[in-house]
Amino acid sequence: MKVLFITFYSLALFCTALAQDKECYQGHKGGSTSFPKSFNYGVATSAYQIEGGWNADGKAQSIWDNYTHTYPERIADRSNGDDAAESYSRVEQDIEALKKLKVNFYRFSISWSRVLPEVTTKKKNRKGITYYNKLIDLLIANNIKPMVTMFHYDMPQELNQYNGFMNSTIIDYFVSYADFLFKTFGDRVKLWITHNEPYVFCSKGYGEAAYPPLVHSPGVGHYICMDHVLKSHAMAYRKYQKKYLKEQRGRVGIAIDTGFYYLENLTIPYEAVERGIQYNLGWLAEPIFGKTGNYPALMRADIERNSLKEGSSESRLPVLSKKWQNIIKGSADFMGINYFGATYVDIPASPVFEIPSYGYDSNIIQYPDASWRRALSNWLYCVPEGLEDLLKWIRDNYNNVEVMITENGWSTDNRLNDSERIDYIKAHLQAVLNVINEGCNVTHYTYWTLFDNFEWNMGYTEKFGLFSVDMADKDKKRVMRDSAKYYAKAIESRKVPELEVDS
Ligand SMILES: *[C@@H]1O[C@H](CO)[C@@H](O)[C@H](O)[C@H]1NC(C)=O
Ligand SMILES: *[C@@H]1O[C@H](CO)[C@@H](O)[C@H](O)[C@H]1NC(C)=O
Ligand SMILES: *[C@@H]1O[C@H](CO)[C@@H](O)[C@H](O)[C@H]1NC(C)=O
Ligand SMILES: *[C@@H]1O[C@H](CO)[C@@H](O)[C@H](O)[C@H]1NC(C)=O
Ligand SMILES: *[C@@H]1O[C@H](CO)[C@@H](O)[C@H](O)[C@H]1NC(C)=O
Repeated sequence: MKVLFITFYSLALFCTALAQDKECYQGHKGGSTSFPKSFNYGVATSAYQIEGGWNADGKAQSIWDNYTHTYPERIADRSNGDDAAESYSRVEQDIEALKKLKVNFYRFSISWSRVLPEVTTKKKNRKGITYYNKLIDLLIANNIKPMVTMFHYDMPQELNQYNGFMNSTIIDYFVSYADFLFKTFGDRVKLWITHNEPYVFCSKGYGEAAYPPLVHSPGVGHYICMDHVLKSHAMAYRKYQKKYLKEQRGRVGIAIDTGFYYLENLTIPYEAVERGIQYNLGWLAEPIFGKTGNYPALMRADIERNSLKEGSSESRLPVLSKKWQNIIKGSADFMGINYFGATYVDIPASPVFEIPSYGYDSNIIQYPDASWRRALSNWLYCVPEGLEDLLKWIRDNYNNVEVMITENGWSTDNRLNDSERIDYIKAHLQAVLNVINEGCNVTHYTYWTLFDNFEWNMGYTEKFGLFSVDMADKDKKRVMRDSAKYYAKAIESRKVPELEVDS
């Protein structure tokens, strides 16, 4: 789940509080009205947000356990993921929900501290491993392919004593963990995502101190974290190629969160769009999928120039050696994209960001259109044309690499008659079909999320689920929303169905 906007954004939000509500569906733009036979539909979840069992059966603490227990006041409803939807003890219920949707695959994440309570990998938690084995086996028995995220924000607390993603030793820890996962589950898991939304994890965890481990180091820690994420991703990919590919025949990628960027009117320099793309998507996508194996030239130039201006002798953006560039370049079999919405971009007339910071380096402000429909979450707007334009941009700039939409979703209150979520899904499925008709290599669509969960700092106040879960219900019953029925119909028909659903 992504939280897209930088701090300045709340100001712009205020100005659009009276935004009009209009339907966001863009329509069919020619070509086939059906998805290709080979196209795959799924849903995504993440361990900390749904599993509960935070200390069950020998699981160690993650930074999210520690953070929610230490700072309950930082969570909107003072809640935590101790129990959540209790997926750890309700595998059968989860499988039932997935079967009702008729999805082809299920994207879930493994809790590192549940399977390896000590990060050395020496000690393995058999019961934690059994949980994932059971889930994977039941998925396969029901013809649902597992797509596994290795790391979805919930770093083992133990790693924090070594400064987590600020310390280059994280690369080795992560690769040993990945190696363990390939060895343990790779006979059945053929789709792997190393990291989820590194941009969010690094900016909120090591830049702005909004998420654990609460490191406040804008424009420095943020970049170091991403550098280690990138290297650990690439080394895990190389490990798979060398040790497992021949036998397991799976594929390994990464889930990058990005929006798309527009100019409100043409007096704004086009450079703002390029900055939006390169400082978000490009930061990870350029090294992995671009021609150089290096960070975007724009970022390297800006950050070096700013660092020197600040009196430093070297760039705050770590420099990738030739050796690392070779390891990183081409280190993914597909590009995972988490897309929720787009923004306008502008270049501020006078400085608005602290120095140093990522905002100062990127030098853009982002804001929504007054007519875009907003979700319950204050950062989320329905902009399906942004997904179309993003996918075309990727087609044209990264050699039509295979793209899997690994997250796309909408938040509401508790209601079951969630017609706005249906509009959102319809509009985004149509956007994907439109660009497939234009030659974009998109093979998977993943709705975020299967059922209501712990939405990080928003606790249980924002619902993204196709199924509702009443957290106070002792059976944690998963109840189908109208959108779940709509999505099932879309999957069954392989089309973009009209809106009527039988309730
Ligand atoms: C959080 O972790 C630290 C050490 O990493 C530990 O000392 C502390 O007790 C933990 N806090 C909670 C609430 O578990
Ligand atoms: C980095 O991690 C290693 C353990 O992996 C530790 O010995 C070292 O002190 C850490 N360095 C810093 C600066 O935290
Ligand atoms: C375009 O932006 C300029 C500069 O901010 C503004 O003065 C002008 O009114 C805008 N034009 C339109 C059509 O919105
Ligand atoms: C789509 O991506 C796959 C994997 O990268 C590649 O083999 C295939 O040629 C691509 N298809 C198109 C139409 O470019
Ligand atoms: C949706 O359900 C709520 C109660 O959950 C009700 O108040 C509202 O009128 C319903 N809306 C529609 C469009 O049916």
